[in-house]
Amino acid sequence: MNKNTVIYPGSFDPFTNGHLNIINRSSKVFEKVIVSVAHNVSKKTVFTIDERVEIIKEIFKDRPNIEVDSFQGLLVEYAKKVKTNTILRGMRSVSDFEYEFQMALANKSIDDSVETIFMVTDSEFTYISSSLIKEIVTLGGSPKHLVPDIVEKKLIEKLQRKQEEN
Ligand code: PNS
Repeated sequence: MNKNTVIYPGSFDPFTNGHLNIINRSSKVFEKVIVSVAHNVSKKTVFTIDERVEIIKEIFKDRPNIEVDSFQGLLVEYAKKVKTNTILRGMRSVSDFEYEFQMALANKSIDDSVETIFMVTDSEFTYISSSLIKEIVTLGGSPKHLVPDIVEKKLIEKLQRKQEEN
């Protein structure tokens, strides 16, 4: 088991400045952070799994201690595969708590050796969510202050193309 490695899993559809905040700070605590995009069959996403991985890889291309990957199936099985037992999740507000609490306990019930740790998002990012960003862009607003530049560019391309098709 690699104690200095943490998995930061999520849908990242799209990746936001809130995610960036958690990764930047956790990379000062852990030697390696694996940002892993989940294949979530029940969620309809704007970006494909490959597009999300590619975007996040671009953001961290000069950061050797940030690895970008994807996973399918159970997170605890993936943790075993990458040889760590620590999962990191960001917590924005009390409204996140119930979902995160349930997920952490569910993961522990499947594999007791896996620990979930939480990092509180810095206050200026607490209102940011991927769904809010998609709504802003779909309605013609700018998400510039909420996402990295590459995400803004790809989101506008993608959602405008979708609107032209409809
Ligand atoms: O960014 P999200 O959508 O809040 O991330 C949720 C995610 C991907 C971390 C969660 O859905 C997950 O771990 N999915 C993998 C499937 C799994 O292990 N489910 C059982 C525990 S809830």
